[in-house]
Amino acid sequence: MQDLSNLIIGNDFKVTLPDGRQLPYVYFDNGASTPALKSVQRKLEQFIPYYSSIHRGSGFKSRLSTHIFEEARDIMRKFVGAPDSAIVAFTRNATESINMLAHYARVLPGNQVIISEAEHHANDLPWRDIAEVVRIPVDNCGVLDLGFLERKLAQGAGDVKIVSLTGASNISGTVSPYREVAELVHRYDTLIHLDAAQLAPHKPIDMTSAGIDFVSLSGHKMYAPYGSGILVGPYDFFTTCSPLLEGGGCVEVVTTDTVMWAPPPERLEAGTPNVPGAVAIAQAARSLQAIGFPILEENEEELTQYLLQELEQIPDVRIIGHNAGWEPASRLGVISLIVGDLPHELVGAVLEFEHGIATRGGCFCAHPYIIKVMEVDDKTVAEFTRRMLDGDHTHRPGLVRFSLGLYNTLEEAKRAVAAIRQISRREFVLDYELHRDSGEYLPRGFDYNLKQYFSFD
Ligand SMILES: Cc1ncc(COP(=O)(O)O)c(C=O)c1O
Repeated sequence: MQDLSNLIIGNDFKVTLPDGRQLPYVYFDNGASTPALKSVQRKLEQFIPYYSSIHRGSGFKSRLSTHIFEEARDIMRKFVGAPDSAIVAFTRNATESINMLAHYARVLPGNQVIISEAEHHANDLPWRDIAEVVRIPVDNCGVLDLGFLERKLAQGAGDVKIVSLTGASNISGTVSPYREVAELVHRYDTLIHLDAAQLAPHKPIDMTSAGIDFVSLSGHKMYAPYGSGILVGPYDFFTTCSPLLEGGGCVEVVTTDTVMWAPPPERLEAGTPNVPGAVAIAQAARSLQAIGFPILEENEEELTQYLLQELEQIPDVRIIGHNAGWEPASRLGVISLIVGDLPHELVGAVLEFEHGIATRGGCFCAHPYIIKVMEVDDKTVAEFTRRMLDGDHTHRPGLVRFSLGLYNTLEEAKRAVAAIRQISRREFVLDYELHRDSGEYLPRGFDYNLKQYFSFD
């Protein structure tokens, strides 16, 4: 396994725990956001002295910034293997990309959009507003019911506007069989969108050979946390209606009564674009390709295999959405678990405050799938919703998630296993106070003293 930990900014950070120990900080919340690659930061530092207005600016720096912005598009087009004819629009993140796609889909009454049961809210809520949403069942091991999909495509012939599917689950790490889905979708003459927010930093994507029509992803999940994402898709799809966001930059001619919209991708980029964000995401794409996906995948498989093997043996630990017969290529290093009847918030707190390990707890913006896999009944959901309305955020159903980044090491994985082993034996020492307004367990009387680390003063 190659040690890539040096490629990341801030990887040498030591966290001070409530008992005074200083431990190397371990970050296993990469599925939410990754740290920045040093190469990305370096590229931004090179670029920033030239940063200037783009598109219609007439100075040298404007021309250079415009040139770099367009080059970034091209790098991203190649990164996802899109055809030359596809447009790449820069967005804020995958959420904005999918909202934009839903807007341009111009769904008509009676149209359906097919998603899976395991989608992130970003690939669920935007469709609910505009279409009848049909959900492909996903079993407790993360496996999609392709027979259901085919039946729905056949029944809805002509009415299924788009099939929008996550590339990989942010809960179970299962990689969707998106090539097979694309093949089916095209057999029924419809379109497929891949929400690659989770997949893109881990596995190569080739839209052309996989038959994917649209891709969306976020830079902050692929080592470029500078506020950019992309939406990729066929040019013609984005020409037939007015933009979701309207203003400068997305128009050719405006009179008091008329508007001539700019062609895509500018039509999708109203307002001043985030040029540094585009530089950052493009450099991250280049860096991932330079390291090489075979190396990234091999490292991740080794760590995932280790974590699964060890965690599965710990009494009381239940890994959710995991298929015992998994093929390494069919999952990411995303492992969600519960430890007996311990609240996930408490497990997360012990990992953080007694072991210096950052994870994520909760429902990961995929409430419907968590409700399904945790078998939360309607009464509990109603009770929980009532308490939330009352300002009581305690005892939320949920899991603790470990999600790996390219820089995580075997040593860090060993620390995680040892910590979960101790927690499963109920070996934790701090006195935790449950906070009603946030639902968090925090060590009584402890304060990180955050200002000593960073301040605007
Ligand atoms: C599968 C999936 N899709 C979409 C998103 C939304 O990404 P963003 O918050 O960057 O818009 C996430 C974020 O966690 C995700 O995991």
